[in-house]
Amino acid sequence: HRRQKVLVVANRLPTKPKRDADGNWTFERCSGGLVSCLAGIRAKFDMVWLGWPGADFNDVEKDIVANEAMKQGCYPVFLRQNLIDEYYNGFANNVLWPLFHYIMPPFDKGVNECSTGQWEAYRKANEIFTEAILSVYEDDDYVWIHDYHLMLVPKFLREAKPDCNIGWFLHTPFPSAEIYRTLPWRQEIIESLLHANLLGFHVYDYLRHFLSSCVQLTSLEISAHSVDATSIGGCIVTCATVPIGISPDEFLTGLQKPEVKQQIEQLHEQYAGRKVILGIDRLDYMKGIPHKLMSFGRFLENHPDWADKCVLVQLAVPSRRDVPEYQRLQRQVHELVGDSAEVRRQISGKHSSIATGVPVIYMDSSMSPDDLSALYNVADVALITSLRDGMNLVSYEYIACQHGKTVPGVLILSEFAGAAQSLGAGSIRVNPWHLQDTAHAIYEALMMGSEEREALHDYAFKYVSEHTAQKWAETFLQCLQEACSDLMEVT
Ligand code: UDP
Ligand code: G6P
Repeated sequence: HRRQKVLVVANRLPTKPKRDADGNWTFERCSGGLVSCLAGIRAKFDMVWLGWPGADFNDVEKDIVANEAMKQGCYPVFLRQNLIDEYYNGFANNVLWPLFHYIMPPFDKGVNECSTGQWEAYRKANEIFTEAILSVYEDDDYVWIHDYHLMLVPKFLREAKPDCNIGWFLHTPFPSAEIYRTLPWRQEIIESLLHANLLGFHVYDYLRHFLSSCVQLTSLEISAHSVDATSIGGCIVTCATVPIGISPDEFLTGLQKPEVKQQIEQLHEQYAGRKVILGIDRLDYMKGIPHKLMSFGRFLENHPDWADKCVLVQLAVPSRRDVPEYQRLQRQVHELVGDSAEVRRQISGKHSSIATGVPVIYMDSSMSPDDLSALYNVADVALITSLRDGMNLVSYEYIACQHGKTVPGVLILSEFAGAAQSLGAGSIRVNPWHLQDTAHAIYEALMMGSEEREALHDYAFKYVSEHTAQKWAETFLQCLQEACSDLMEVT
């Protein structure tokens, strides 16, 4: 008897193959919450991961990439460069990503004309992903589709395999129906999603927004946690809140490695006499990096005596570099951290001296998990200022890596991150648009007594250690199983 397997389908595979000048292949770990979480649970489930390997490859290279991917339990979905441009850089990351994070297109332009070709490419890419699924699919497998890139797959797949068990999970917010309704392709997308058996969201608000959109855009029967989409060829669709988590044990074991301990010591020496305020973000405009830098500037203005007693260490992991908004953001952030005399004066220059150095250390790079854990561990404060964020796993990772310290660090967390709903009471919550509010929170965090720090940490750590990535996946898959057996009863 064949064991049912789970086909995890995401735009991205966990590693990106690259060929260097000498023709040697390297496999770089991909960044972002989706990869971190799924990579963390792979060993625990019998799953095949289908996804795009991150670049366009020629036919010879494709064989090498496919072989290597298979060894890692992955199945690459190859896309040509023009499709990557139109589907990934275009529709997914220049239309859907901003809209799902509440950014509307410029008010003097509709999205229609400029994005129709991108929409066609999005459809095409979703068809290619569906074909890839069909080529590995066996009866009774569970297909777990991820994120905003692949919202047309449920319908394509249902049409090809009417009995297929289909789940979809959204890693971003689902915006208010008032925002979602502005999307010219709102109908096709929502109707396609309603061909899945289970739709999962990080927090209840996103689920509620999705159901409101269904109420406004369809005439289907909708209850608190399900939509009857049988009349449009779909199922009785279950909608569930299944918040994602991390694998805290991986961080806790990582911190025990001698090389990580050594790295922690080195960092302590490097920042001796200063409190470390840490920011870790993909270089994405939704992370509010400029707001964070400006708030830090305000804090130093309010408390100049802190200028040589603290340092803001900001890691900005390069992301989606071919999308113009991301290039613009990089220029803006570079100006803020030092390329522009005007802003240097505002943030760093005014408060730095040759003796003490600049209080902002900015790095445009990614980091190995070990280096990341060391940095999380030494930081006295983590500063997360997302303007919108589906969940934000960095906040969870910081909490995990603070565990076991005599005096744990303080998490400052944007109220616009999904994580604010779980870690809110274990952090200082801020409105990142209110620079003075964040500036004050930095001061409060630095001044906080050990008792209060411990109370906040204990609360947050309890949540992070109980709501793990593994639990998230188990819960989702169990809901999917139940949603699928409900379907059997109905039909
Ligand atoms: N991360 C990474 N490489 C780095 C720094 C961070 O892969 O150099 C990881 C980090 O550990 C976290 C993820 O990227 O797991 C970011 O996830 P989050 O949910 O905070 O935001 P996202 O990037 O998904 O929007
Ligand atoms: C977010 C998205 C993920 C994506 C990640 C990194 O977390 O929800 O689907 O993988 O960002 O972005 P990238 O475009 O590099 O995959």
